Amino acid sequence: MERISRILSHQKYREHLKKIEVWEKDRVFCKHDKKHFLDVARIAYILYLEEMSSHDSKYDTKAKVKELLYAAGLLHDIGRWKEYEEGIEHHLASVQLAEPILKDCSFSPEETEQILSIIKTHRKEVQEEKESLSSIFYRADKLSRECFWCPAEKECNWKKEKKNFRIQG
Ligand SMILES: [Fe+2]
Ligand SMILES: [Fe+2]
Repeated sequence: MERISRILSHQKYREHLKKIEVWEKDRVFCKHDKKHFLDVARIAYILYLEEMSSHDSKYDTKAKVKELLYAAGLLHDIGRWKEYEEGIEHHLASVQLAEPILKDCSFSPEETEQILSIIKTHRKEVQEEKESLSSIFYRADKLSRECFWCPAEKECNWKKEKKNFRIQG
């Protein structure tokens, strides 16, 4: 997970996080912060282990998938500040901002493409491939939200069926 550590300490990455933090200072709804990024990465990897790893031959090792999912987790919402500032949809802005960071952190062009594809589709409910890292990641992003103890749940415009009112086992 050496390259994941490199993302965490990447200067531009830190700057994007800081900008989001400033924009979301008074946000009462879910934030797009470090906790969210790690929650999504961890849940996505758990889903992978539970549902896909035993019969998935596309990837060489679990360690490789773990790195891809953690990289996507850390980077999938970094374009949020651009959405606030310039109105660019954040999944697209995140793809733009993530690419040079992945390069700096020594991800290969093939890995970068896989990670960017997960980021690009992270808001897409219906994924092309039902059993894929993208589809797992979409669900992890939603499952990470703790609606069951959110004080702003009533005002949140997420559809009821998307909200998490219990921990799913
Ligand atoms: Fe997002
Ligand atoms: Fe997210």
